[in-house]
Amino acid sequence: MQKTITVLPGDGIGQEVVEAATKVLDKVAERYGHQFEYRYGDIGGTSIDKNNDPLPQETIDTCLQSDGVLLGAVGGPKWDNLKSGMRPEQGLLGIRKALGLFANLRPVTGHESLTDSSTLKKEVIEGVDLVIVRELTGGLYFGEPKERREIDGESGAVDTLAYKKSEIERIVRQAFEMAKVRRKKLTSVDKANVLETSRLWRETVDEIKGDYPEIEVEHMLVDNAAMQLIREPKQFDVVVTENTFGDILSDAASMLTGSLGMLPSASIGSKAPGLYEPVHGSAPDIAGKGIANPLATISSAAMMLKYSFGMLEEADAIDNAVAEVLRNGHRTGDLAKPGEKALSTEEMTEKVIDALK
Ligand code: NAI
Ligand code: MG
Repeated sequence: MQKTITVLPGDGIGQEVVEAATKVLDKVAERYGHQFEYRYGDIGGTSIDKNNDPLPQETIDTCLQSDGVLLGAVGGPKWDNLKSGMRPEQGLLGIRKALGLFANLRPVTGHESLTDSSTLKKEVIEGVDLVIVRELTGGLYFGEPKERREIDGESGAVDTLAYKKSEIERIVRQAFEMAKVRRKKLTSVDKANVLETSRLWRETVDEIKGDYPEIEVEHMLVDNAAMQLIREPKQFDVVVTENTFGDILSDAASMLTGSLGMLPSASIGSKAPGLYEPVHGSAPDIAGKGIANPLATISSAAMMLKYSFGMLEEADAIDNAVAEVLRNGHRTGDLAKPGEKALSTEEMTEKVIDALK
């Protein structure tokens, strides 16, 4: 297959980890007879320096004309105090919006060999394999009115939690589709004992469930879900939830695996290409040193193969290569224990490429 990938390295270690991921993609292309053509675009602080704009129209156009987008990270102290009010993060929010990405997928995999870098007990996280599907463009973060106002004669503020049924339907269907190719269990998280939007959410899940008789569905209140994620994360396969709950639960779940340098993510829309990026930021403290952990970005590239290109076997090959490299004890600095040898970004990438052979 021939695919066009827009690559947006962004700032700091974004440049380094994205380069690692494209090398791995090249190896996959070679092994499976595909052609990946990369088009590079500017985003974030680097783009402010170059174009005086964190997200030039040209970048958006390039993304729209491609089959998938691979992003590094944006931001850094250099751009924290810009007088223009321009911020690198505007590039990230802008591109998600321009591509209409309503679903954010964050898989959490408890690699057996990494259980000692988590704060939780080995037997709790070993074998964890779940994905959080977070609604990304609606709910409390976007509802109107959103304002300061006087309430009962004193100063106050209002945010609005609103969902249209169609917005719930598309994210819920996305989650069912995902459960179909995984372990066929869906947990829908809400606060239906208190919130009207949650009651609509729950009704909608129950309606759609009829189209997926093979999927086991459960509803869970968000406070309980937070507790269960830490108590017994292995009970989850696919978790679907609204924007705010998903934001908080996905950060909590991310700690199950130990390092930020391990976590991939995907943001998906209905028409535009999906956006794939590591969960971590630009890590200014280690940028330019060639020691960043590339695995989150490499796993994000695997998600692109799976969800945007339908290349399931190729995606599995990358995931298996990453697991093998870890099993063999290879570690970048963020994972290595004191005194243990730490690999550079390039060395770690080569190990993954070797494991793909
Ligand atoms: P960060 O994720 O960049 O770094 C947090 C800590 O984790 C640092 O000590 C860093 O060295 C380490 N770390 C992160 N990724 C790593 C990797 N792949 N390998 C090894 N170590 C890694 O978060 P921080 O420091 O809060 O933010 C730094 C900048 O990144 C800020 O400008 C922030 O706004 C931006 N940021 C961007 C995000 C994005 O582009 N999606 C997400 C989070 C932060
Ligand atoms: Mg967050």
